[in-house]
Amino acid sequence: MNDQNAIGTYSAENRSFEPSPAFVSRARIASRAQYDALYKESVESPETFWKRETSDLVFDTPWSALSEWKPPHAKWFIGARLNVSQSCLDRHLTTATRDKAAIIWESEPGETLTLTYAALHEKVVAFTAALRTLGVRKGDRVAIYMGMVPEAVIGMLACARIGAPHTVVFGGFAAESLRDRINDCGAKVVLTQDGALRRGNVVPLKATVDRAVETIETVEKVVVLRRLGAEAGSQLRAGRDIDWYDAVAAADPAQGHAEIVDGEHPLFILYTSGSTGKPKGVLHTTAGYLAGTHLTTKYVFDLQDDDVYWCTADVGWITGHSYLVYGPLSNGATCVLYEGAPNQPDWGRFWQIIEKHRVTVLYTAPTAIRAFIRQGNDWPAKSDLSSLRLLGSVGEPINPEAWMWYREHVGKNRCPIVDTWWQTETGAIMLTTLPGASFTKPGSTGLPFFGVRAEVVTQEGQKVPTGEGGLLVLKQPWPSMLRTIYGDDERYREQYWTEIPGAYFTGDGARQDADGYFHVVGRIDDVLNVSGHRIGTAEIESALVAHPAVAEAAAVGRPDDLKGQALVVFVTLKPNQPATPDLKKRLAEHVANEIGKFARPDSVRFAESLPKTRSGKIMRRLLKDIAAGIETKGDVSTLEDLNVLAQLREE
Ligand code: WTA
Repeated sequence: MNDQNAIGTYSAENRSFEPSPAFVSRARIASRAQYDALYKESVESPETFWKRETSDLVFDTPWSALSEWKPPHAKWFIGARLNVSQSCLDRHLTTATRDKAAIIWESEPGETLTLTYAALHEKVVAFTAALRTLGVRKGDRVAIYMGMVPEAVIGMLACARIGAPHTVVFGGFAAESLRDRINDCGAKVVLTQDGALRRGNVVPLKATVDRAVETIETVEKVVVLRRLGAEAGSQLRAGRDIDWYDAVAAADPAQGHAEIVDGEHPLFILYTSGSTGKPKGVLHTTAGYLAGTHLTTKYVFDLQDDDVYWCTADVGWITGHSYLVYGPLSNGATCVLYEGAPNQPDWGRFWQIIEKHRVTVLYTAPTAIRAFIRQGNDWPAKSDLSSLRLLGSVGEPINPEAWMWYREHVGKNRCPIVDTWWQTETGAIMLTTLPGASFTKPGSTGLPFFGVRAEVVTQEGQKVPTGEGGLLVLKQPWPSMLRTIYGDDERYREQYWTEIPGAYFTGDGARQDADGYFHVVGRIDDVLNVSGHRIGTAEIESALVAHPAVAEAAAVGRPDDLKGQALVVFVTLKPNQPATPDLKKRLAEHVANEIGKFARPDSVRFAESLPKTRSGKIMRRLLKDIAAGIETKGDVSTLEDLNVLAQLREE
């Protein structure tokens, strides 16, 4: 693997793979012609398309018009009234799905807990009643800071049942980041657990919540799941904290009903990094998000009734929302939920889980695949992976080597791979190959999903010729798109809809090949993708300059074989601050403490000064080249002081 591949800017990749006749014979979309016809209908007669394709969802009042587009604001399924939890749970109670496993939970130590749709429904109804009894009402925000336990899913669905938007915060975020998010959305209640298990260690979630909410007045209640047992018990603060199951026991059981809300009622806020400023609260609403995740899950993963589907993403990220919870449950799928790390107790864990639960569809991330490659081919070979029939990839560009390894060593050359491109903002998969419809190519995400009009354009919005690189845009609104940035509609307008005339700008660079397949090379803005985690360089920099020793900081990405991108920071120190190796360590630690361990810089470099334009803007492009150890190809004529470059190279 070379560096070029690691950031996804691979050149011509000529291999392509047709799905096997056995796969095609059962596939929902079984030919290119069928895909083409449906795609055509989805863009030319969207009313007909969406009417039919949402007919299995539960609407209390059907929609009267498909959409309304007043740029940059869209509404979808106008007039619809519904509750998402009814499509995910209640609708299955009257069919055979009632007794089918909804969640197969595998704990890190290896216990299994299975919840049927009936059981999951019962638990969600009970927890809905608990939340209502605690005072949560339609429109109130609820923060969820939990590990990968069934209660995290139950909490999300209970919020949806009340119409109280949830904001799930990834358990890897530090107290500061959690506080910012709770504050920004003004959450009234926080759901957490005493601790999560990760690689045999305890992640002290409740203690972090305690630190985060200390100064927040909006938080009235903290509901604590005792995952580790009473003896490990976190201290419950009288008046504020309540044990999860005590709250259930104390609830008025009549309060578990589903609140019917407008199709545009907010379903959740999920914070994600942008190129500037604080994280953005991406707001998703009810009907459009449900329709988007429902349909993509059904067709991209080609869901069959007997599938055992495993998405390895954490609930704290958008993939966990769309493809662990709302998409699969609305389709009545059986989902594996794994609590722990891929290498606990050893690197065979994923493959053992697949064997144990007879997993048929696996959806994971390139960074995990690259980590497995490093451990050698023996691990997947030790388990029986014959149940698998389809593989998926998400979160970052997958380099062809990793794709081929996934195909050979996991899919045994039998399973199609769907490389799915999408974003927190898009809510659902936008680009991918439908597995039974067409050939797949290593390193290419494939074609647009139904209703998606994607294009590669210049800065001016002109379509670039086939094969040439440009900016990836989406040319028209789609049902599961974000509606705004919570509390900052202006930023929403600026970030997404003004950069490129007449289109939604994704922030990604891409090219389209002669087959019409899209190849997404990665972010072209100041957002990094480290192990599939989105990190804004601005957030890292503001954490660094908050440190007393730091004068100025610039964060950039460096191609990395394992993580896709590694985080490199350049720091200038305040006068009289000795530039010691120990300080480097402390600065890396500082970022981990402020943001979260996953954002810890891989390398801290001290500099006398940072390269700037004459107008004082840091030239990140140059720093990127230096971090990657390559000669700067770009124009340096606007650089203020050429000596800076020489010094940085020497460091
Ligand atoms: C990147 C994750 C290439 C991309 C679902 C995007 C990808 C960002 C792919 C969104 C893919 C995601 N190929 N790049 N299949 N999937 N990306 O919001 O840069 O965490 O803009 O959503 O991840 O990251 P986010």
